[in-house]
Amino acid sequence: MIAIIVAFLLFVSNQKMQSIAFNLELPVDKLFTQFKTKYSRHYSPTEEQLRFQIFKNNLKNIKALNEKRTNPSDALHDINMYTDLIDDELPMNKGIPVPVSSYDKEHFNSKELRKVEKPWNEIPPLPSGDSLPQNHAFCGEYVSKNTDRPKVDLCGEVFSQQNCGGCWAISLANLAQYLYSNLTYQRYGCVKTPPKFSAQRFLDVTTTKATKRCCGGHPRDAVNAVKSFSLDADYPFVDGSNRNLCTIRGDQNPSVQIQMAITGYKTFGISKDQNMVLILKKLLHHYGPFLVSVKVSGTGFSSYSSGIFSFPSTSVCDTSSSSFMTDHEVVLMGWGVENGIEYFIIRNSWSSGWGEGDNYIRIKTTNLCGIGWRIGDYVYPLNMIVYANTCKFDKYCNSCNISSNICSSCTSGYSLNSNNKCVENTVKLTKFHSNSTNVQFYNHTI
Ligand SMILES: *[C@@H]1O[C@H](CO)[C@@H](O)[C@H](O)[C@H]1NC(C)=O
Ligand SMILES: *[C@@H]1O[C@H](CO)[C@@H](O)[C@H](O)[C@H]1NC(C)=O
Ligand SMILES: *[C@@H]1O[C@H](CO)[C@@H](O)[C@H](O)[C@H]1NC(C)=O
Repeated sequence: MIAIIVAFLLFVSNQKMQSIAFNLELPVDKLFTQFKTKYSRHYSPTEEQLRFQIFKNNLKNIKALNEKRTNPSDALHDINMYTDLIDDELPMNKGIPVPVSSYDKEHFNSKELRKVEKPWNEIPPLPSGDSLPQNHAFCGEYVSKNTDRPKVDLCGEVFSQQNCGGCWAISLANLAQYLYSNLTYQRYGCVKTPPKFSAQRFLDVTTTKATKRCCGGHPRDAVNAVKSFSLDADYPFVDGSNRNLCTIRGDQNPSVQIQMAITGYKTFGISKDQNMVLILKKLLHHYGPFLVSVKVSGTGFSSYSSGIFSFPSTSVCDTSSSSFMTDHEVVLMGWGVENGIEYFIIRNSWSSGWGEGDNYIRIKTTNLCGIGWRIGDYVYPLNMIVYANTCKFDKYCNSCNISSNICSSCTSGYSLNSNNKCVENTVKLTKFHSNSTNVQFYNHTI
C-alpha cells in the first residue's frame, strides 16, 4: 500500500515538474486569446497587431525548443508572461561592461597588472580535498535531495524586479534572504521564513558610470555604496513599473533600520582554461550561494518552464567572441544530477510564476553562457560572493543596537573584532601527550 502511495506521489510530482500549462497544439489565435486572458493584456488595436506578431514568433521558438528534447529531464518551454515581448523588453541589464576603476589601477603598476592574477578576478581560497556530493542546494524544493547539509529552504519567497532592469540590486536583495537565514540557522539551529530585503535602497543610492537604477548596473557598486541590508517593508520597492528609468532618487530614508551589515565581498572570474564547473561547485559548497551573471537575450531562457535548460551551442553563448556580454544578474544556489544530466540551479527575480517552482531554473553544466565568466583583465567580473553579519544573532554580543546593527559590548571572554563581531579572546592551549616526542600546540585564534 505504502509503495503504491509513494509511486503515486512520485508520479504526481513528476507530472507537476514535467508538464506545461498551455496546449501548444491549439491554433495560434486561440492560444493568443488564452494568453491575453491569463496575463490580463489589453492592447490598443495597433499594439494588438504588433504583439500578436511577436507572440507568433516566440511561440514558434518555444515549439522548436520542445521538439529538440531527447531526455525526459530536458527543459520544457511554454507560453508565459513574457511571450508577447521581444528580448530587449525583458527585465534585465543592458549589458554594461564595468572597467576596473582608476583607483585600483593606482594600486598596481602596469607591470604588476600584467603579471599577477588580477585581484578582482582571483578565485577566493578553497579548501583542498573538498569532497562534493551529487546534489547540493540551499533554496526551494531542491534541498530535499541534499545529503551533506540540512534539507531546509534558506531563501523563502522571491523578490520580483517586475519591469525594472535593476537585477544588479534585486538579485542582491534575494541573496540577502539566504545570508539572513544562514545567520539565524547558525544561531538558533532553525530558519523562519526569511523576510524580503530592500532593493530600492540600492537603486536609490548607487550611482556610477556603470550603475543606473533600472537601466542596469553592477552589484559591486551597490555594496560599495550602501554596505548594509534593510527590509523591503521599511524601505519599499517603488520601481516595479520603471522599465527605463535611469536617474536615481537619492536616499529616501537615511535612518532606516539596518538588518545586516555587509562585512565584505569578493568578485571573481574563471577563465576558460580552468575547470569552471568544478570551481563553481566548490565555491558553492564552501561559501554558499552567490551572484553570477548570465546571457538571457537570444537564448530561449525567458520561455523556460521546467526541467534542465540547455543554452544554445550557437555563437550567442560564445564567451570568446569579442561581442559577447552577459545581460542578467541572478543567484547561483546549487547543483544536482537528474537522468544523467548535471545542472546548476539558479534563482531568478522575474514575475511570480516564472520558471520551475518560483523563479528557479536548472541549467545544464556543459554550457554556462557567461556564468562565472572572466570578462577581461581590466573589467570587473559580475560574479560576487557577499558576506554579511548582524549583532542581533551574535550569541556573545551583550548590547546590539538594532538601528545601527552595531554591538557595543561582548560577554566576558569575548571582544569585538574589526568586523564588529564578538570573538573569543585569543587563548593559547598547549596540549602535551604522554609520550612527549609529540608535543602539539593549538594556537586558538578566531
Ligand atoms: C552559513 O555560512 C557558513 C559560511 O559560509 C557555512 O559554513 C555554513 O554551512 C552556512 N550554514 C548554512 C546552514 O548554510
Ligand atoms: C543606535 O544607533 C543609532 C543610529 O546610529 C543612534 O542614533 C542611536 O543613538 C543608537 N542607540 C544607542 C542606544 O546607542
Ligand atoms: C604517542 O602518542 C600517540 C597519540 O597520543 C599514539 O598514537 C602513539 O602510538 C604514541 N607513541 C608511542 C611511541 O607511545
